Amino acid sequence: MKRIGVLTSGGDAPGMNAAIRAVVRTALKNQMSVVGFKRGYNGLLMRSLRPEDDYIEMNARSVSGIIHKGGTVLMTARCKEFHKVSVQKEAIRNMRALGVDGLICIGGNGTLAGAQALNDLGMPTIGIPGTIDNDLCYSEYTIGFDTALNTAVDAVNRIRDTGDAHERASMVTVMGRDCGDIAIHTAIACGAELAIVPEIPWTLEEVAATVHKGVVGGKRSMILIFAEGAQSSLRTDLVQLKKDYPKLRFNRDHITSSQFAEIIEQLSGHETRATVLGYTQRGGSPTANDRILATRTGSYAVELLLKDVYGRAVGIRQNKIIDVPIASAMDGSTFDPELFNLVSVTGSIK
Ligand code: F6P
Repeated sequence: MKRIGVLTSGGDAPGMNAAIRAVVRTALKNQMSVVGFKRGYNGLLMRSLRPEDDYIEMNARSVSGIIHKGGTVLMTARCKEFHKVSVQKEAIRNMRALGVDGLICIGGNGTLAGAQALNDLGMPTIGIPGTIDNDLCYSEYTIGFDTALNTAVDAVNRIRDTGDAHERASMVTVMGRDCGDIAIHTAIACGAELAIVPEIPWTLEEVAATVHKGVVGGKRSMILIFAEGAQSSLRTDLVQLKKDYPKLRFNRDHITSSQFAEIIEQLSGHETRATVLGYTQRGGSPTANDRILATRTGSYAVELLLKDVYGRAVGIRQNKIIDVPIASAMDGSTFDPELFNLVSVTGSIK
């Protein structure tokens, strides 16, 4: 293989730039040239007016001074039409026309699905796990998770200061889509009373009871970490709740974080405020751990292509870089009951 492509797709994750850099530098050291495709799979479709908006020739200088930067120099996007086989074939034709005979795709679940589709159609691909969600269970960590976690911990530290001063319960909503990893790890690192996650059924009554118990036990400021996808595992009878508390305003299909906080306040009798951390978790300079993981996986991905090994997703287990078939990389859940239990063991109020 003499010429490869690289792209970042899906939600950006801190460390994606470090991964691009490692791919480019490792490829160049091995006499391979590299094309950087822009805006994820959209770049492969070459629909822009100017070619440089879709792809660029990468050289050692084009990845200088990016290892410490959040975001992605190749930009990223989600590409709905890429689900169509005809569009995937068009992408392969375009890559072949540029002389590209292998592709490295950096991103989460959707990105790996796209990489697998291209590989199945005959374009050798490798996937690198780049997502803050940490929801790819073949890899113990994904690039961006450590930074997002540290950002969340830093934010909760600040929220705790004001919560302590006002004797409030603070509900902090973190990202993660359908995965509670950011929430659970943040809760452990911040000594939160609760982590509310999509993987475990919960009720508003239980959350309110925890807050009430804290108040009775003399602990008036509390931290509740709420995963953004946690409404999916809510087991409270919302129809009954509306009847019992007619003044509460919420839409049963989607309760906002502030509305959750209002309900908890109403049920527990203790002042509760919500903060949504949102995109702050996706931005910022990657931590050393994320830069190192990105550099190791990026370099390893190129080495696989050099050995004519493809259709693989690269990850990390027990501090060793590993690769598995991309087809299996999207299976399973990363939920760890022991970590989840640790939140209640160490955060419970007795
Ligand atoms: O997958 C990363 C992630 O930040 C999720 O945690 C979140 O649910 C989603 O992306 C948000 O996506 P968007 O950038 O489209 O708002």
